[in-house]
Amino acid sequence: MAVSEWVPAARVGDVAPGEGFLVEINGQPIAIWNVDGQLYATSDVCTHEETSLVDGDLWDNVIECPLHGAQFDVRTGEVLSLPAIFPLPTYEVKVEGDTIYVGWRDADH
Ligand code: FES
Repeated sequence: MAVSEWVPAARVGDVAPGEGFLVEINGQPIAIWNVDGQLYATSDVCTHEETSLVDGDLWDNVIECPLHGAQFDVRTGEVLSLPAIFPLPTYEVKVEGDTIYVGWRDADH
């Protein structure tokens, strides 16, 4: 789906390798993930019971929800482990200079 707006969301140095970084875009909590230097963005909200995912553990491309342990692939939003059933919304990411931009799609919200 086409990006409606590229939103400057963070600095490259804000998102350490192996970590997630929480930003808010148009009132929505979005997590930016650094997987071995590659950046990805998903909703920060677990699709099970709406816990913040940046408080969970990220290893490789997998985030584990801190509340009940659902796992998601941060590259695709795919559910890897119950109790979540629905995938995470994902967003495109680009870097220009020192700034990370997240591709916002109006149609998703
Ligand atoms: S709130 Fe995330 S697994 Fe339950």
